[in-house]
Amino acid sequence: MVIAIDGPAGSGKSTIAKMLAKRLGFKYLDTGAMYRALTWRAMQKGINLEDEHALCRLMDQTTIDFQSSEDGLFIFVDGTDVTKEIRLPSVTNNVHYISDTRNVRRRMVELQQKLASDAHVVAEGRDIGTVVFPRAEKKFFLDANIEERAKRRYTEFKPSESKISLDDVSRDIESRDRRDTTRINSPLTRADDAIYLDTTKLTIDEVFTIILGDIEPVLKK
Ligand code: DC
Repeated sequence: MVIAIDGPAGSGKSTIAKMLAKRLGFKYLDTGAMYRALTWRAMQKGINLEDEHALCRLMDQTTIDFQSSEDGLFIFVDGTDVTKEIRLPSVTNNVHYISDTRNVRRRMVELQQKLASDAHVVAEGRDIGTVVFPRAEKKFFLDANIEERAKRRYTEFKPSESKISLDDVSRDIESRDRRDTTRINSPLTRADDAIYLDTTKLTIDEVFTIILGDIEPVLKK
């Protein structure tokens, strides 16, 4: 069984996807982390991020996998734990080079499908319900207004990056939204059969309860 959760940055999809996977005992697939991991590798190797061929070659030569433990989900690139590094602002700023490249996306989608082939999964990203798992049993599209999403991200990052202002975060989210929704390859769009949830005025627990309530009848079938 696949539960697909898509939505823009700060919509709450990672938190919800993790909670759901834990509650249901499903595998958690963070596809954004995979695009970030390849970005980190390309930067580390000094690859020209505008060179599509070099990026495809890198994708073919790179092993990306996950390990989950009591402490959470860890992502490895060729055996190196890059869980922290992939969240650096430099990676966030460059990830669009990777996620905009059609042939890298194609390979990434294949890998995501393979990672989900042996388990029930909760997968989160931008194209899960539309491209990666169009036949997912359940699809959700989480959203929230820009002010709320910026506030959430700001609260998350503030302790470690106190120089960043709420306005900076808001501008960054706006530009990522623009990139994610207007790119030619697999733009962020809601699948026709996805349930749309505006989380602006909801707590995480409320969102979780709504989604779980919607999934439970399917689990009982
Ligand atoms: O969810 P995130 O912020 O970790 O994702 C990082 C970037 O990867 C984001 O800018 C959009 C891109 N992405 C994508 O294009 N397709 C996905 N399925 C997941 C993420």
